[in-house]
Amino acid sequence: RREEDHTHDHFFKLILIGDSHVGKSNLLSRFCDNKFTLEFNSTIGVEFATKTLHIDGKHIMVQIWDTSGHKKVRAITDAYYRGATGALLVYDVTKHITFVNIQRWLADLRNHADPNMVLTLIGNKSDVRHSVTVLTEVGKSFAEKESLYFIETSALRDTNVEKAFTEVVDRMY
Ligand code: GTP
Ligand code: MG
Repeated sequence: RREEDHTHDHFFKLILIGDSHVGKSNLLSRFCDNKFTLEFNSTIGVEFATKTLHIDGKHIMVQIWDTSGHKKVRAITDAYYRGATGALLVYDVTKHITFVNIQRWLADLRNHADPNMVLTLIGNKSDVRHSVTVLTEVGKSFAEKESLYFIETSALRDTNVEKAFTEVVDRMY
């Protein structure tokens, strides 16, 4: 497909990873369609969306894959990882366990994916200030230790969402 489409200069596949309910699908819909949904609809199977970015006069098409982080319905197979050049590992800053589980997602990723993959750690739901259980400094130092780029986002308020995705892309070409 990549070779057939001459309307863009680069094509990248990104994947979203992280526990259920951390906000992966809303980060995706905020970034691609500027949409946010308050009600929770766990992702079924694998979904993806594409967006064309304009960076340094180049047209960059990014295809972002999304699946549920729920163990029972998780559709993460080799096909999910295959060809991905970047991954966004998402946790919820108000749910500490989702941050703890990043270790597992990271291990899984490192077992299955391309070692050169660009990885970003995202602490989502930064708008819920009063119930933060993962402090910015904690996320940041973990990211430094694991050599991950780090950013806190809010899909609800549209804070740093564009930045989170474009930072990954910036480091891929
Ligand atoms: P799975 O598909 O089950 O893996 O979940 P997910 O990670 O895709 O989560 P989803 O995007 O469906 O969001 C889960 C819930 O969190 C929904 O009720 C969203 O409205 C809410 N949510 C997502 N992002 C934010 C955010 O930035 N701030 C707040 N306050 N709520 C958010
Ligand atoms: Mg989802």
